[in-house]
Amino acid sequence: MARITLRSFRDEDLPALVALYQRAYAEHPEYGEATPEASQRYLEWLQRHHTFFQLAEDDAGRVIGFVVAHANWRDRDGQRVGEIHELVVDPEYWGHGLGGRLLEAALAHLKAHGHRRARLWVGEHNDRARTFYIRHGFRPVRSGYWVRMEKRL
Ligand SMILES: CC(C)(COP(=O)(O)OP(=O)(O)OC[C@H]1O[C@@H](n2cnc3c(N)ncnc32)[C@H](O)[C@@H]1OP(=O)(O)O)[C@@H](O)C(=O)NCCC(=O)NCCS
Repeated sequence: MARITLRSFRDEDLPALVALYQRAYAEHPEYGEATPEASQRYLEWLQRHHTFFQLAEDDAGRVIGFVVAHANWRDRDGQRVGEIHELVVDPEYWGHGLGGRLLEAALAHLKAHGHRRARLWVGEHNDRARTFYIRHGFRPVRSGYWVRMEKRL
């Protein structure tokens, strides 16, 4: 696999991220955003309101994945939680460990902010992502259209 580096989000990355986000959710459009405009609004919201937004770039400078987390997220019950809010890898790169690398970077951020557990929501029929998270130590703690998953750090 090409040499991949992780770096912080920059405003000029937005168009590439919109395209990447739409490609990655083509398999499960019900869990993504319906249009490029809606995807852009969602990504802008992620960028403004989260404490960690890292992306992966290949050696040609192409953005091939990203992860977004919040170290001070408020859960539905008002509790402060370490939240993994989004994780996306370009389908061309699936199965090479990049998702794991991005996830670990976000978990390290949450741990550095004092969290002893990380949480996320994943679509109940998103088997690829659910299997991935289970292999990374998450377990389901609430089920529904969105499954709540948790991992001790
Ligand atoms: C879920 C997602 C992020 C996983 O990304 P990925 O880069 O394929 O993840 P990895 O390569 O680290 O792991 C995937 C598989 O590759 C295998 N793998 C990991 N490292 C590997 C390596 N170095 N060499 C070969 N295979 C490897 C693992 O066995 C893993 O299999 P598993 O999922 O059964 O455990 C990706 O599929 C994606 O972007 N999906 C669409 C968006 C989405 O649903 N995101 C989740 C939102 S909650």
